[in-house]
Amino acid sequence: MTTIKNGVLADGTTTDIEIENGVITKLGESLKGENEIDVGGKLIIPGVIDIHVHFREPGGEQKEDWLTGSRAAAAGGVTTVVDMPNNNPAIVDEASLDNKRELAKKSIINYGFYLGATNDNASDIQNTKNIAGVKIYVGSSTGDLLVAEDENIEKLFSLPGIQWVIHAEDESIIEENKKKHTDMGDPAVHSRIRTRDAAVKAVGRVIALAKKANATIHICHVSTKEEVELIKNAKSEGVNVTCEVSPHHLFLNENAYKKFGNFVKVNPPLRTAEDNRALMNALRDGTIDIVATDHAPHTNDEKSKSYNESPAGIPEVQTSLPLLLNAVHNGELTLKQLVEITAEKPAQLLHIKNKGKIKVGYDADLTVVDLKKIEMLSKKNVLSKCGWSPYVGWELTGWPVMTFVNGNLAYDTMNSVEQYKGKEITYGNV
Ligand code: NCD
Ligand code: ZN
Ligand code: ZN
Ligand code: ZN
Repeated sequence: MTTIKNGVLADGTTTDIEIENGVITKLGESLKGENEIDVGGKLIIPGVIDIHVHFREPGGEQKEDWLTGSRAAAAGGVTTVVDMPNNNPAIVDEASLDNKRELAKKSIINYGFYLGATNDNASDIQNTKNIAGVKIYVGSSTGDLLVAEDENIEKLFSLPGIQWVIHAEDESIIEENKKKHTDMGDPAVHSRIRTRDAAVKAVGRVIALAKKANATIHICHVSTKEEVELIKNAKSEGVNVTCEVSPHHLFLNENAYKKFGNFVKVNPPLRTAEDNRALMNALRDGTIDIVATDHAPHTNDEKSKSYNESPAGIPEVQTSLPLLLNAVHNGELTLKQLVEITAEKPAQLLHIKNKGKIKVGYDADLTVVDLKKIEMLSKKNVLSKCGWSPYVGWELTGWPVMTFVNGNLAYDTMNSVEQYKGKEITYGNV
């Protein structure tokens, strides 16, 4: 039995937390335990649940693997990730998922999986057990998953009881723009090929199809204020739609191409400072449900290639919580909102069992935060295997200092990361 002493919850109450067999068994003052860990009045929040990561194994082990990705996550206060299916080979049936399950056993945090949709794997989708949802790439991105035609999306949406998770960029607009733009020397061309119209059109299409089929959809990485408007209207009409924003679309914009070039090439692309503000507003007012990182590491060598050769994606899992804590420090979010968008609502959205709250009976996935810690992210502290981050050099206020996964200390700034192994998460019904 472990007891965490003198924690302060997001609502300001001071509490001890008793943990037995990885589960929170008691909350209250003056609790005693065999193993007491005094956090001396620091904030304790439910461990971050990041429902959009690419930990790259199998097939992209030069970029990341389950051990390195989960270490970066633990250092960022993340206790559960849900991993995307665009592996090599893609995860499109039970056999490929079982293979990934074995590899994921290296993870020091908890994990879940999506299956990828193709134009002909409806029966695999219905028969594969314990998945968080099914990813549809309406526009192509890293990997070879793609379901671009309305007709095929509609067929998928007719399958009952599935949480659809969607990369929404319109493939035909992207293809047209690729023909038009030949100025490939400039990485900023990415935002002119994958235009905001491409994202807005795709979001409009999938909302219309979901409405017709009464499907439950989640839009990944919204990047423009127009997408937010479409989603807001759809929600008010009763469409079962939720969405996420990724840190790079909140905190970076097209100006970053000058400094980072293809290192900030990402799908969907970076937009404008005005979009940064609109997305933060939508996060505050609840139109955007959650933050999910789209942690998509690629190696330094891969990112150093020319525009056409360079893969899209940015590593984000370690820096998401510090960036959001810094936003709390700046008065852009409240602590209550931070807990909702990083843990409570992600757990609800995917019906993840016993996670997302600090409550008796819930799993002891807990992140201790030092709200006053001011630190600059340095390159040597980047734990992702890719070894780089666009946020190196950023001075942020508020950092996770300890991460407990199922009651075990998985990250501690004072010591190194422990080799505790996480567990696969389970779900209720959609
Ligand atoms: C992701 C990747 O590299 O896996 N890349 C990206 O630019 N976001 C794929 C994706 O989420 O679209
Ligand atoms: Zn995507
Ligand atoms: Zn051009
Ligand atoms: Zn992604």
